[in-house]
Amino acid sequence: MREAILLVGGQGTRLRPLTINTPKPMLPVAGVPFTVHQIMRARDAGITRIVLATSYRADVFASFIADSDLGIEVVIATEEVPLGTGGAIRFASGFLTGGSEDPVVIFNGDVLTGVDIDALITSHESTSADVTLYLTRVADPRAYGLVPTSSEGRVLQFLEKPQTPEEIVTDQINAGCYVFTRSVIDSIPEGKPVSVEREIFPVLLAADRAVMGVVDSGYWLDLGQPMDFVAGSVDLVLGNAPSPAVTSPGESLILTGTTIEASANICGGTTIGKGTKVGSNSEVRASVVFDSASIGSNVSITNSIIGQGAVIGDSCVIADSVVGDFAHIGAGNELRNGARVWVNAELDELVVRFSSDK
Ligand code: GDD
Ligand code: MG
Repeated sequence: MREAILLVGGQGTRLRPLTINTPKPMLPVAGVPFTVHQIMRARDAGITRIVLATSYRADVFASFIADSDLGIEVVIATEEVPLGTGGAIRFASGFLTGGSEDPVVIFNGDVLTGVDIDALITSHESTSADVTLYLTRVADPRAYGLVPTSSEGRVLQFLEKPQTPEEIVTDQINAGCYVFTRSVIDSIPEGKPVSVEREIFPVLLAADRAVMGVVDSGYWLDLGQPMDFVAGSVDLVLGNAPSPAVTSPGESLILTGTTIEASANICGGTTIGKGTKVGSNSEVRASVVFDSASIGSNVSITNSIIGQGAVIGDSCVIADSVVGDFAHIGAGNELRNGARVWVNAELDELVVRFSSDK
């Protein structure tokens, strides 16, 4: 038996207002909650039991898992108060069944990747590591955990979200997936908030424990910010990012019960959610539209997220923006450059009166 812990308890602050009603890993990405892509990848890597470490809106996970069969045993652990990444791992370990020397795979709940999980476990076992970290290289590492390694792959330092230019010592970052030997998890203090990145990794390194890094250059994206969330969904729909939950990649993914006028153009990896309507001559490009939304005629939507039940009036232009669930955008409005409209907000119809030159 192989076991894993999936960390899904964060508040998803950077994705507000989408995460007001739905925790980040339960937001639909390419037609299914993001967490389904991760659970199915874990299953395909031979993991037979996965513990969901929940906190924020744990109820949403519980009801979804109760109604789903993902071909793997899914157990829900719920922290009464958020315990941080390290505290959550420690708490979830109480739901594991393996022995103290068994490997446990841990995933951040918002990372889209094609990494070979099985190879990561094999590497962990062959080096007799305490912890093995999956690393990737990014152009701008400041928003992540920096992880320089030696030529033998030994982790030298762990610098979470560096604050000064001197701290930017590498472009290798923690890609949000680890293999821990179970006994190392059990050494994390119990019942209090702990950060695995800011506390546990530095402590293990100071104690000269065997912390190894495996750099992988395949697909990697953290979906924690709106434009990355859109990019991840688009890549899944187009087939640029791997997932067993996307069986037939294509130009767009249109779910059931939609009404789309023939003159509308749905393209660039867009997903249109269940029961959503799109009016005539509208274009929805490289975007994610959740269920039961209503998009009028002559609308242009690009690189944006439209929440569940949102209503977009005729002739609106929405680019690089987020519209919260059940918001109403009156006809003729333009939202651009990272605009966010809150859940249930109402924007009046934009009435432009042209003065006559004559
Ligand atoms: N159960 C539980 N409880 N889960 C939590 C808690 C908690 O208190 N706090 C955060 N999480 C979960 C989040 O739901 C998410 O899946 C994961 O832990 C990481 O949190 P993020 O908020 O997404 O962290 P980040 O993106 O800023 O940084 C992390 O990921 C980067 C890679 O994407 C760090 O691990 C960085 O070192 C890393 O580079
Ligand atoms: Mg993240």
